[in-house]
Amino acid sequence: MDFILRSGKHWIYFTLVFFLPLLQAALGNWMYLGIASLGSLGTEQQTGCNEVPGLVVQQLEVCKNNPESIWCVSEGARRGIWECQRQFKFERWNCTTTRNQSNLFGEIQYLATRETAFIYAVLSAGVVHAVTESCSAGNLTDCSCDLTRQGMSNVEGWKWGGCSDNINYGLWFSKTFVDAPETTRHTNSRDIKNRMNLHNNEVGRQVVEKNMRIQCRCHGVSGSCAVKTCWKKMPSFHDIGKLLKEKYDSSVELAPRSRKKLRARMRDHRNKKGRVPRDQLVHLNRSPNYCRPDPDNGILGTRGRLCNRSSTGPDSCDLLCCGRGYNTQVVRNVRRCHCKFHWCCYVSCKTCETMIDKHTCK
Ligand SMILES: *[C@@H]1O[C@H](CO)[C@@H](O)[C@H](O)[C@H]1NC(C)=O
Ligand SMILES: *[C@@H]1O[C@H](CO)[C@@H](O)[C@H](O)[C@H]1NC(C)=O
Ligand SMILES: *[C@@H]1O[C@H](CO)[C@@H](O)[C@H](O)[C@H]1NC(C)=O
Ligand SMILES: *[C@@H]1O[C@H](CO)[C@@H](O)[C@H](O)[C@H]1NC(C)=O
Repeated sequence: MDFILRSGKHWIYFTLVFFLPLLQAALGNWMYLGIASLGSLGTEQQTGCNEVPGLVVQQLEVCKNNPESIWCVSEGARRGIWECQRQFKFERWNCTTTRNQSNLFGEIQYLATRETAFIYAVLSAGVVHAVTESCSAGNLTDCSCDLTRQGMSNVEGWKWGGCSDNINYGLWFSKTFVDAPETTRHTNSRDIKNRMNLHNNEVGRQVVEKNMRIQCRCHGVSGSCAVKTCWKKMPSFHDIGKLLKEKYDSSVELAPRSRKKLRARMRDHRNKKGRVPRDQLVHLNRSPNYCRPDPDNGILGTRGRLCNRSSTGPDSCDLLCCGRGYNTQVVRNVRRCHCKFHWCCYVSCKTCETMIDKHTCK
């Protein structure tokens, strides 16, 4: 299935290589763009953003005004999904994606647990990250580097220079695009969940914004650093993932009575003011234990997962296998070893065999 987007002089050619029962995407499910492969530039046909399934009206507007940005959305979602799977690799819920376009993370996306909170935050942050990087690379027509402080001196004696990441555009874009499904009328029935998602989307954006770093380069005779120019740079997306994982661990569960306005009391009564903290993830429901398969909720269970017998963390066989025990398999591992360099010029190696125990959950 091919999608061709046209806007002014830009012709963008999207190939959704991903298989399609796709066009039935439920509205507001742009996240699947992270596993769809949006192909390259330049072709003759024309259709439009209307052909990208699953977008709500406001997202269509963004797409029409700036078709290249859909590439960033796809890239941002891809980063979010990839980082989610990296962070949860050794946990019972490992952030698997389904092949179902209208619920990419299975029902987890709607359960309103702390996993849901993480998914929304990390994908929202992913879009900020991808858009901002594209701005700095000069790939988007609507933004570029942040040059507002270019040439100005800092009190510490260095000068602003280079290309500072223009986070403001990325934040604006993520807010406009990622938040849109939550504020669209047709989703009213999920009101409180929409507010939870909006809150967590914002937490994701804030983590990128609050962790901008300053990078510098020295100039001067043989690197004497007589002159130093500096610019602002976003953290790596892996760092953002780590910070969000910490927020996942301390996600705040909202008490039922306090949900109306997503403020007031939390389960944790120590917080007298009862405000939902702006920098913390929030969720509404307790997580299932993810131990046993629950197809209705898209939970795979942990049977067959690799576990670590000597670990005490979540990847330990005890925790990961939920006390069901594990199977041990001895696996032969063959690799090159005792390599020697011979003058000149080749390397000779021996092959070494080791036996490795592989534990998988029962
Ligand atoms: C998550 O675990 C399941 C088994 O429960 C496995 O099939 C899947 O490949 C894992 N996903 C990732 C992304 O590691
Ligand atoms: C995809 O998810 C939707 C919403 O949960 C569901 O109605 C539909 O049956 C699923 N489709 C497939 C092919 O699993
Ligand atoms: C910018 O666009 C080029 C060409 O389309 C692409 O290869 C590159 O990855 C893009 N860079 C960023 C940061 O978006
Ligand atoms: C298992 O856990 C131990 C202790 O945390 C760690 O040192 C070791 O590298 C882990 N093994 C694997 C295969 O991940």
